[in-house]
Amino acid sequence: MITLGIETSCDETSCAVLKGRDEILSNIVSSSLFRHKPFGGVVPEIASRHSLEQIDTVFQEALEEAKVRARGLDLIAVTEGPGLIGSLFVGVSFAKALSYALKIPLVGVNHLEAHLSANFIGKTEPWKFVGLLVSGGHTVLSYHERGKVARLGETADDAAGEAYDKVAKILGLGFPGGPVIDQLACEGNPNAFRFTKPKQDGRFDFSFSGIKTAVLYKVCPLTLPSPPVGERGRVRVEQKLSNEFVQDMAASFQHAVVGWLVDKTLEAAKFKRVKDIVVGGGVAANSRLRKALTETGARGGFRVWFPPLSLTNDNAAMIARHGIGLYKKGKRATLRLAGVANLKMGR
Ligand code: KG4
Ligand code: ZN
Repeated sequence: MITLGIETSCDETSCAVLKGRDEILSNIVSSSLFRHKPFGGVVPEIASRHSLEQIDTVFQEALEEAKVRARGLDLIAVTEGPGLIGSLFVGVSFAKALSYALKIPLVGVNHLEAHLSANFIGKTEPWKFVGLLVSGGHTVLSYHERGKVARLGETADDAAGEAYDKVAKILGLGFPGGPVIDQLACEGNPNAFRFTKPKQDGRFDFSFSGIKTAVLYKVCPLTLPSPPVGERGRVRVEQKLSNEFVQDMAASFQHAVVGWLVDKTLEAAKFKRVKDIVVGGGVAANSRLRKALTETGARGGFRVWFPPLSLTNDNAAMIARHGIGLYKKGKRATLRLAGVANLKMGR
C-alpha cells in the first residue's frame, strides 16, 4: 500500500510517501521558519500563505523522489489538528481535492498522536505504552492501549518548547530557542541557578510559565540601565549578559525542565504498569532529555523510545504512518473534513 502524508499544522509544509507502514520513499519539508525569525515567533498568516504557495511543489517533489505517480497512491492521510487554523485549511483542502479527483480514501490525523507514531516507522509498535508529547505548543502525558488513547496530564500554561523559546528570547538568543539552549547548556553549570518545582493539582500535569518568569527576574537586574555616566547626565547603557551567565542559565533551566519531565513521565509509566515510554515532538530532539530519560528509564526497567532526529520536527512521514494505523482500524474521512485548531490528544 502506498500512502501520501500531508502536514501543514504550523510553519512546516510537508508531503511524504510511505510504502507499507515502514518504508519512507520520500519526506519533503518546506519550512517558513526563516520568514518568522524577525518577529521572534510564528506569525499565523505568514505560515498559512507559505503553505498555500508551497503545497503543490512539495507534493510534486514527494512523488518524484518516491518515483510514484499520483494514480499510484492508495491512501491520503492529512493533519486534521491541532494547529493554526489557516495552515490546517491548506493541507485539508488540498487532501480533499486529491482524494476526490483520484478517488482515493482519506483519513484525518491527530498531529500530537502522529508525533509519537514517528517512533514506529520500521519498528513493531508496543500494544500499550505511556506517551510524552513535548512540542512548541503542547506538553501531554498519555496512555495508549491497542490504539485507544487516554490523557493522563498536560501543561496548565506554557508548553515545554514554548518555555525554551521564551527563555531564549529573554537571554537574547533568537528564535527558535530549543536547539540553541540545548547547545549552550553543554558548556554551563546546571547547578548555578535553582528553580522551584511547580505544584500542580493533577498528578501528571505540568507548568512551565513560572520558570520563564524566574529566569526573567534573574536577568532583569543585569540588563537594567546602568547608573548615571558621563558629563551629560543619565545615559542609558544596556549591559550585555556575559557568556558564562548565559551558559549557566541555559544549563540550569534545561536541568530543571528535563528533570520535571523525566520525573513525571516515569511516575506515569509506573502508575500505568507499562514497560514502554514513547516520546515525540520538537523537544524530543533535546540531547539532555534523550540521555536522562533513556538512562533513568533503563535503570527502572523501562524501554524508552525516541524518534530519529530527522523525524522529531513536524513532518508528513509521521502523519502517513499514523494514518495507516487508523485506516486499518476502519477510520475514513469524508469531504466534510475540516481542520480543528484545538484538537486534543485522543480525540
Ligand atoms: O513539534 P514541533 O516541531 O512543532 C510544534 O508542533 O510545536 O516543535 C517545535 C519546538 C520549538 O519550541 C523548539 O524550540 C523545540 O521544539 N525544540 C527543542 C529542540 N529542538 C527543537 N527544544 C529543546 N531542545 C531541542 N534540541
Ligand atoms: Zn508538532
